[in-house]
Amino acid sequence: MASSPDMISLADRARPLKKSHIRTISKAVKAVDGINLGQGICDLPTPAPIKARTHEAIDANRSIYSHHAGIEALREAILEKATTFNELPASTIDEVVVSAGSTGAFVIAAMTLLQEGDEVILFEPYYGYHRNILKLTGATVRYVPLGGPDDAFDPEAMEAEITDRTRAVIVNTPANPSGKVWRRDELEALLTVMQKHDLIAITDEIYEYMTYDDAPHVSLGALPGAYERTITLSGFSKTYNVTGWRLGYAVGPAPLLEKMGLMNDLLYICAPRPLQHGMLAVFEDLDEEYYTSLRSDYHERRSLMCETLEAIGFDVPWPEGAYYAFADFSPIQDRPGFSSDEEAADTLIQESGVGCVTGRSFYSDRDRGSTKLRFCFGKERPVLKQACDQLREAFG
Ligand SMILES: Cc1ncc(COP(=O)(O)O)c(C=O)c1O
Repeated sequence: MASSPDMISLADRARPLKKSHIRTISKAVKAVDGINLGQGICDLPTPAPIKARTHEAIDANRSIYSHHAGIEALREAILEKATTFNELPASTIDEVVVSAGSTGAFVIAAMTLLQEGDEVILFEPYYGYHRNILKLTGATVRYVPLGGPDDAFDPEAMEAEITDRTRAVIVNTPANPSGKVWRRDELEALLTVMQKHDLIAITDEIYEYMTYDDAPHVSLGALPGAYERTITLSGFSKTYNVTGWRLGYAVGPAPLLEKMGLMNDLLYICAPRPLQHGMLAVFEDLDEEYYTSLRSDYHERRSLMCETLEAIGFDVPWPEGAYYAFADFSPIQDRPGFSSDEEAADTLIQESGVGCVTGRSFYSDRDRGSTKLRFCFGKERPVLKQACDQLREAFG
C-alpha cells in the first residue's frame, strides 16, 4: 500500500494538474492583506429574491435529487430566456440541461462530444478551464490567435489549424480574458467554416449580460443553420453573484442534449436541488431594470479600472464585454520589477497590495502573455476604488 504521495501512482490525466497561478496570487495577496483583482469572482451581494426563494425551498425540504437535467420549471424558464434573449430556435425543455455551473455544462458537452484522436479549436488568449477540460477528454487542442476587442476573427487562421480530425470549436463571447464580443458577421464567417468542415461549436456565453458601448451580445446558435451544430452554455454565477452556488446550463439540439443529460446524471446526478428552485426568482422576480443597472454599474467599474491602468502607464484595450481588463505593461517595462508578467504581478502585490493574474495563464506559449496582466473589476465599488487608488499611489 502506498504511504506517501510520491509513491502513489497517478493517472496520466491527473499528473499535469497544478495549483492554478490564480490561487498562488490569492495567497500572496492575503499575506500582505491586499486586494485581489485576480480571481474572476464577483463579491457583490446576491439579489434578495433569489436568496428568499432558496430559503423557502430549503424550508420546504426540496432536498432530494431532481430530474438529471434539472427541475421542469427551471428548464421551462431557461427555454423561454434562450428563445427570447439569445434568439435560439429551441422549442422544448428536452433541449435544456441544468448542470453544476456552466463549467459542469462544459464538462458534459466535452465528455459527450470529444475523445482521444479528436482535435478541437480553441482561440487564444483562452480561459484556462476550457483548455484543461478539453485535455481531460484526450482530444488535442489546436490554438488559433484571436486578440482583444479590436481584433477580428480570421477564418483563414482557423482553417490553417483544421485537419480531418477536427470535431469542434470553442467560442467564448464576451470573452475572458480579452473582453472581445463576437460580432454577427464574425459569427457568420465562423459558421461558414464550421459547415465546410462539419464542426460543432461549444459556446460559453456566461458574460452575456455584461456588454458595453452598445456592443450587442449575439449567440452563434441564433444564426440560421447554426443551432443544429451548436451547444450554447451559460449560467447564473456572474450575472447574479452566485459563483459558489454552481448552477449553469446548456441549450442545444435535443438528441445531443439528451446524451449530455445522461452524462450530467453520471457525473453529478443533478444540479443542487433547492438552489434550482431559488433560481426561479431570476425569471419571475427580477425585471429589466436589474440588467440595465448591472450593465451601467459594470460600465462605471470598467472606466475606473481602465483609466487607472492607463494612468500608471499600461496599454489597455478596453473590454467590450465581461469584467476583466487584459492590459499590456510593455510601455513601462524598463521600470524595475516589470521584466516579465510573473515579476510584474509580484511587484504589484508588494508595492501596491493589488493582485492580478499573469498573462501567461491564457496562452499555450507563455511568452505571448509575458507583458500582460489580467485585472478583474467585478468588485464592490469601494473595494475597486481602493485598489485603483493604491495602484495610482504606488505607480502613478
Ligand atoms: C469564460 C468563463 N466561463 C465559465 C466560468 C465559470 O462559470 P460557472 O461558475 O458557471 O461554472 C468562468 C469563470 O470565471 C469564465 O470566465
